[in-house]
This record gives sequence, structure tokens and C-alpha cells, in this order.
Amino acid sequence: MNKTIQIQTKSTQYPIYIGTLPQIESPHKVLIVSNPKVAGFYLRQVLERIIAPEVYVCIVPDGEQYKNMQSVEYILECAFSHRLDRKSLMIALGGGVIGDMVGFVSGIYQRGIDFIQIPTTLLAQVDASVGGKTGVNNAFGKNLIGLFHQPKAVYIDPAMLTTLPNREFGAGVAEIVKMAVCFDKTFFDSLLARKLSLQDMESLSEAIAKSVEIKARVVNADEKEQGIRAALNYGHTFGHVIENLTQYEQFLHGEAVSIGMCMANTLACELGLLSQEQCQSIKQLLSSYNLPTHFAFENAQGFYEKFYLDKKSTDSRIMFILPQGIGDVKFCNDVPKDVVLRVLKKCGDYDEN
Ligand code: NAD
Ligand code: GLY
Repeated sequence: MNKTIQIQTKSTQYPIYIGTLPQIESPHKVLIVSNPKVAGFYLRQVLERIIAPEVYVCIVPDGEQYKNMQSVEYILECAFSHRLDRKSLMIALGGGVIGDMVGFVSGIYQRGIDFIQIPTTLLAQVDASVGGKTGVNNAFGKNLIGLFHQPKAVYIDPAMLTTLPNREFGAGVAEIVKMAVCFDKTFFDSLLARKLSLQDMESLSEAIAKSVEIKARVVNADEKEQGIRAALNYGHTFGHVIENLTQYEQFLHGEAVSIGMCMANTLACELGLLSQEQCQSIKQLLSSYNLPTHFAFENAQGFYEKFYLDKKSTDSRIMFILPQGIGDVKFCNDVPKDVVLRVLKKCGDYDEN
């Protein structure tokens, strides 16, 4: 498949290419940022495609626990030591962790330089690389430090997924399911009908393209998340708390989002927005990719308090993104606390499955 999808907002315009990685030309210095694992698989291939006067490589440690200000400092040091200037280009080669960090560093280096995304996980190809949300975590929570900084282009090569472990593949599927549940019932039905796999690159590329189309539509309508873009956080309000409670160690981001979507669905059922049947079909779809759908915890009040770290919560009102049937979504910032606590107790129950 070779397809180009456009991001076009009031302030930016850039292409998202889906297909074999083409040549990338820059008349200025280039700094590729990656991690040891991804660089081991794909750095040579990428270097062969870049035409630029000087190309440097910066390798940061692999893992969500390194998505922090220390790694930001390290990438900045690489950029300064190679004397990148304001016309230089950074390239993010990796999953969402690398993409978010490189987006952030390129956004603050000398008040902002260009960057390109070459996403190598399914999650990054269908979601993280598109739309310009960048940043890092700190002790208070996930992605709390960051800025909107849009890439100049995104190059999605599905063939780069062939080395992806199954668990990481599932984590990416969770974000695909998110897009379908929020925005496209036909897409959701097609996911129920045909299981995505790395062995069927054609169907997978189509699902990637569909997800990117949905995301691009949302970003084009609402680049800075003043409205509809918040829908892409379906599952994340709960998921971010789970990641924080488990010190980012027990679950991959997509796995936490999978549990978070199931928790949001329970709340949506409680509020009459979703039927039990719809709730079950989402859960079964996630389970079919071995994604977790349940997280046991005792302290519902403690869980509730962590919601206030969420960037969507303002003036102490918690914003829940809830599916309204399949293919539509509702924003609720007035759910009574006792209802939320009741749902949290039900979801956190050790016997729930
Ligand atoms: P990740 O970047 O940590 O990658 C997961 C693992 O896969 C890593 O060990 C990585 O080295 C490895 N890997 C990457 N590509 C590979 C390949 N082709 N073959 C084999 N291994 C490979 O995790 P992720 O799931 O890609 O991204 C999660 C991050 O993305 C989170 O920090 C999350 O907050 C962020 N995110 C951002 C946005 C956004 O809009 N900016 C959206 C969703 C998620
Ligand atoms: N991943 C959520 C967003 O890009 O808005």
C-alpha cells in the first residue's frame, strides 16, 4: 500500500506517508534519535534513505521509564555538541516514547526546529506519531511536561512492524479499537470480523490507514484539543492512573488503555450510554488480542484522587470520555462522585473478570 493522508489545520500542514520508506532529503544537518533496540533493527535502512550534508545519531535508553527530563537533557546535549542550528532537522526513529521525546526536544531546541516522525510500533503508527502532542513524564504523572509541536512529515512503513513483539502489537491494537469505538462503527465491525495480524500485512496496512484517517480528521478539526480531540483520550483517564499506580512497570501504555476503556465502558453502562452487549463486544475484541481488561485494586478513593492529575480535569471537575453506543462519544464532567466511586469499586473488585 502507498497512501498519503494530509494534516491540514490553521497553523500547520504536513503529509503522513504510509508505505515503503522513501528517500528523505534535507539541505541541513540531521540528527536521528533512536534507542538501541530500534536502531539495531532499522538504523542502517534509514541512514541509507537520508540525503543530507551531515547526519548524526543519538541513542537514548529504551523504555517508558526513560521518557523523562534526563533523556531530554541528553538529546539536547547531542544536538548542541553536533552544533545543530535552527535549520537542522531531528528525526524520531522509534515508538511513541522516542516520538514524544524528540517532538518535545525539537520544540524547545533553540525555540523550535523541524522534526520528522518515523514510527516503528503499531501504537506510534496509528496514534502517537500524528498530531503533534509531545512531552515526557515526571513523578507526578504521565506526559505532564510537554508542548504541541507538529512534525514536518510522518513516514509510516508497516514493514517495520515485522520485528515487533506480540505484546507490543496488542498494545497498538488497543489504540485502533479506541478510534473505532469513538468514531466509526463500520470500522469496529470490520475489526470484529477479521483479526489483525503481522502475517496479513495488507489488512494491517488498511487498518493503520483507517486509524490515521480518523486521527487526522480529529486533529484537523481540533489541533490543540479545545474540543473533539479529547475524545482520543477515551480509556486514558483511567489508564493513566493505572500506569501511575503500577509505576509504569506492569502494563504497556496500550494495555493500560485497554483496561481503561473497559472501566470507562462500565461507567458508560451505569449512565445508560452503552448497553451490556456493546460493553461485552468491546471487551471480547480486546481480549482476543490478549489485552488485559481488568485491574484489581482496593482503594477506590485513592484511585479517584489520581484523576485530578489528568490534564483534561479543570477547576476540580473530572472529565470522562465515554462511548455513546459504538461510533460516538460523549464528554461528561458532571458525573456525581458517588457514582464514580461505585463504578471504581466494581471495576477494582478482585473477583471481577
Ligand atoms: P515504546 O516507544 O516504548 O515502544 C515499545 C517497545 O517496542 C520498546 O521497547 C521499543 O524499543 C520497541 N520497539 C519499537 N519499535 C520496534 C520494532 N519495530 N521492532 C521491535 N521492537 C520495537 O512504546 P509505544 O507503545 O510505541 O509508545 C508508548 C508511548 O507513546 C507512551 O509514552 C504514550 O504516552 C505515548 N503516546 C503518545 C501519543 C501522542 O499523541 N503523542 C499517543 C499515544 C501514546
Ligand atoms: N493520543 C491522543 C491525541 O493525540 O490527542
